[in-house]
Amino acid sequence: MKEKVRIFLPEEKVNARIAEIAKQISADYAGKEVHLICVLKGSVFFMCELAKRITVPVTMDFMSVSSYGNDTKSSGVVKIIKDLDEPLEGKDVLVIEDIVDSGRTLSYLLDILSHRNPKSLRLCTLLDKPERRVTQVSVDYTCFNIPDEFVVGYGLDYAQKYRNLPFVGIVEFENE
Ligand code: IMP
Ligand code: MG
Repeated sequence: MKEKVRIFLPEEKVNARIAEIAKQISADYAGKEVHLICVLKGSVFFMCELAKRITVPVTMDFMSVSSYGNDTKSSGVVKIIKDLDEPLEGKDVLVIEDIVDSGRTLSYLLDILSHRNPKSLRLCTLLDKPERRVTQVSVDYTCFNIPDEFVVGYGLDYAQKYRNLPFVGIVEFENE
């Protein structure tokens, strides 16, 4: 099977929306410092673009998780591949995700992080597919709600490819 990628959200549109969300975050965290947590690898591009536009002081940390189960369906049990370098105690923590799909990964991850006593814990995602939700998760900032399509680009991959595309595209599978 070969695949083609069709542009769905062009770079300018994504960046404009990220600027809006950054403005909102800067207002909400006025007078505070926000500790951004990037969930590798998909969220890297989004976090960089967002962080550059936030005007309150920002610190960052990175973690890598993998979901037990097969590639297409997350089980909701998250294995920490790379943990955070710093404790969350007393910090205003904002988790940055590329996409919320079933919600399983995020609800599990937020539960783990909440036990580390952050002062506050919120979630910001580039994309959300609300139709696909299986586990309830409260998303504080969403750049785009999208339909139930498989998307790549802006950090998101298909079999580790396409993360570097500057836009969000829909993968179209075609039979050879
Ligand atoms: P959830 O536990 O089902 O919410 O899993 C979310 C994770 O699945 C995301 O962090 C992505 O790694 C992956 N994922 C879900 N939908 C897509 C998609 O359309 N393209 C690329 N990765 C996706
Ligand atoms: Mg992810």
